Amino acid sequence: MTITTRPSNSGPSLLGGSIELPPEACRHGTPRRVEPWLGEEGSVGTVAVVGAGKMGLPLAAQFAGHGWSVVAVDVQQSVVDAINEGRSHVTQEPGLAEAVENAHRSGRLRATTDAAAAARESDVVVVIVPVMLDDEQQPDYRYMDAATAAVAGGVHQGLTVIFETTLPVGDTRTRFTPRLEAAGGLRADRDFYVAFSPERLLSGQVFRNLGTYPKLVGGIGLASTGRAATFYASVLDAEVVAMSSSEAAEFSKLADTTYRDVNIALANEFARYADRVGVDIQEVIAAANSQPYSHVHQPGLGVGGHCIPVYPHFLLSRAPEMELIEVSRRANDGQIGLAIKAVQKALGGLEGVPVLVLGLTYREGVNELAYSRSLPLIERFSFHGAVVSAYDPILEAEEVARCCATPYQWGDTGPFRAIVTQTADPLFQTIDFSLFPELEILFDGRNSLRDVELPLHVAYHGVGVQDQTRTHPAAVTG
Ligand SMILES: NC(=O)c1ccc[n+]([C@@H]2O[C@H](COP(=O)([O-])OP(=O)(O)OC[C@H]3O[C@@H](n4cnc5c(N)ncnc54)[C@H](O)[C@@H]3O)[C@@H](O)[C@H]2O)c1
Repeated sequence: MTITTRPSNSGPSLLGGSIELPPEACRHGTPRRVEPWLGEEGSVGTVAVVGAGKMGLPLAAQFAGHGWSVVAVDVQQSVVDAINEGRSHVTQEPGLAEAVENAHRSGRLRATTDAAAAARESDVVVVIVPVMLDDEQQPDYRYMDAATAAVAGGVHQGLTVIFETTLPVGDTRTRFTPRLEAAGGLRADRDFYVAFSPERLLSGQVFRNLGTYPKLVGGIGLASTGRAATFYASVLDAEVVAMSSSEAAEFSKLADTTYRDVNIALANEFARYADRVGVDIQEVIAAANSQPYSHVHQPGLGVGGHCIPVYPHFLLSRAPEMELIEVSRRANDGQIGLAIKAVQKALGGLEGVPVLVLGLTYREGVNELAYSRSLPLIERFSFHGAVVSAYDPILEAEEVARCCATPYQWGDTGPFRAIVTQTADPLFQTIDFSLFPELEILFDGRNSLRDVELPLHVAYHGVGVQDQTRTHPAAVTG
């Protein structure tokens, strides 16, 4: 296992987003269990993972799979009970159910609600509970503050505390380290260690990402960086990159996610212009990206989930002068208006119009409604008088109803005059349009249905893809 000791600006793994690395093969030998764990190569100890959710539970299973004794900590008793029965409460994560079952069967994974006790008996604590936004778009630390306070009760000589939750720049050092020090009177980076290591996994492909993405680690001092990097080298097969500070590591996650938000905003602006001049934006983007310097993302109905639309605000909360980020956020949120206007225009108004929204989660196949664009989409349609029904292949009817839409049953006929897709679920490509004799417009919010055959009475409207351009080949090859 190589630990790169500086964030290089050359090196294949740091070249940029268009590089798809193959997963690294596991090169770890049989680990030696030690107590306490002091970071020697080939040795493992006990690690607590605080926050056993969509990210924390796969991490816990990964660590156990590499020989560590793992204590998963969660405030939800049902989560703790499931883990202690060898079950994953997180569905839709390939490989997770088996990994949790195996880890539990091997005796290396158990769970508790007591973070202080877990920290006390551990060599390493990984904290991965959410930080969200409050109503004023400022970081909402309630879960992280509570988790840190609980962990602080178990801080002891030699412990390494690693924050993986995305944080504003400086928080590891100035907000959380003093709290960990205050509880036990120990000094960070001398008596115990504190580092930040951004979680960069994508739901639905966590284990593949764990074997591929370089693990960035920045401590509050050299000793902390070294100890945290050594821990990751013992549990991950991908490269571990020791960064110069916790701030640099925090910033790297905000830079990566904000770049994507700003890039998507640009793609959305391009798409608006493409609509105006009757050009297919996907053809343009494929052509522009056919050399190594251009990575234009895809336009759509905006950006959802609790990462990409949230982290730009972490930067803005400390650096409001970053206007480009602010404008991009607004541009992406404004995409909902496109669908509303297009449908309004096609139908001559929305009062009493039955509309079907397909795809409610923020991304197809991920059971997450946080910041999903479907919520303002439904709200805006309803505000204009439309009667909104909705369907999502991974949500129950009650969950759809909670999103303020009438649940639609896939395969039923319906009086819809407009259908709007909010996710690119492949199921939607099999839609039977004969079920909707009154349909007049399909608004394809992710340009994923551009190739479907539509009845003559149905107009197609994509995002930067028009009815007359959509049947042309989208990709530029050669
Ligand atoms: N989900 C993603 O796709 C993703 C991707 C990259 C990074 N992340 C990072 O991971 C963080 C967590 O995301 P997630 O998807 O795992 O969230 P999640 O909501 O699925 O899980 C969080 C878990 O933390 C638990 N929790 C809350 N407060 C706690 C406390 N005080 N002590 C112990 N447990 C507590 C919750 O009960 C829940 O089980 C995000 O905030 C983000 O920084 C997430």
